[in-house]
Amino acid sequence: MPTSIESLFRPDRYPLSSKYDPRWIVDLEMGPNPLWQLEDLLTEMRLRPGQRVLDLGCGKGATSVFLARELGVEVVAFDLWVSEAELRTNLEAAGVAAQVTPVHGTVLDLPFGDGEFDAILSVDAFEYFGTDVHLLPRLLRVLKPAGSLGMSTPALREDPYEAAPPVCVTDLFGWEVAAWHSPGWWARHWTLSGMLDDVTARMQEGGSEDWLIWSRSLEQDQDSPVTRMLEDMGAGIGFALVTGTKTTDVAHSTVKRASSTVIRPAAASIATASTQRAGCSGSPASAIATSSRRRRSASVRLGP
Ligand SMILES: C[S@@+](CC[C@H](N)C(=O)[O-])C[C@H]1O[C@@H](n2cnc3c(N)ncnc32)[C@H](O)[C@@H]1O
Repeated sequence: MPTSIESLFRPDRYPLSSKYDPRWIVDLEMGPNPLWQLEDLLTEMRLRPGQRVLDLGCGKGATSVFLARELGVEVVAFDLWVSEAELRTNLEAAGVAAQVTPVHGTVLDLPFGDGEFDAILSVDAFEYFGTDVHLLPRLLRVLKPAGSLGMSTPALREDPYEAAPPVCVTDLFGWEVAAWHSPGWWARHWTLSGMLDDVTARMQEGGSEDWLIWSRSLEQDQDSPVTRMLEDMGAGIGFALVTGTKTTDVAHSTVKRASSTVIRPAAASIATASTQRAGCSGSPASAIATSSRRRRSASVRLGP
């Protein structure tokens, strides 16, 4: 059942995000409400005004605007698919051009000096590059020792490498689902790098409901395939929120014991494969021949 865009205004749950006009958020959308994910992620990170923050995979810049306005940090808004010119226009319109610098490029070749940033944040982008073991050394080069890394990314509560992902998800997102790892997988991946300390990982509480609210609010007159998938999956899908601190012992990146990892209870309560599959309606959504990078959000507008 479609709901109005006003349902994206949720001051009780997301007081900071609710300062922003839902229409502005939707205009800049490239995925399910990035401000809600960021606001939750920030509860685990300590950022101070004036610090320099890399917003990695910032899309059209909503999260960069939020970081500048809400935290008073200096932001580099960095993205691959969105041009610098488009980003600059959005940042100027939001009145944060003096605090946020748009930079176009790929995380695989970051045009920044060593240790330039106090923190790196990334909302709904790590699924495109973060599973590669070669990513963290490249990325962490630009982070100060003891600097913070935090990201949110679509996740299956039960890791796709542990059990076959439900068909209602793979029918829509295909091979990309292999990157929708559980929080436990991300925690292990980051800890094994030996480059991060104090790694935490959890399923965002209420993340699947948030995604559903987002999806329904963007629908026009009937349920989209994404909405149906989310309804079928329930809490089996959502967002992994993962944080860590760059080790000060960077030269000595030995494999660390996984016991230094904190996996929050929400992440540890894993449904069995059969439970999760039973959650699927099993009615494969018809093949939707759109680029999957548009599907997660824009597909809700595709109609029947
Ligand atoms: C689903 S969009 C999310 C955008 C934004 N964070 C949001 O939540 O609205 C994923 C973003 O990741 C970015 N991205 C993907 N691969 C990248 C890469 N190799 N380097 C930098 N950014 C990348 C894309 O440009 C895209 O804007």
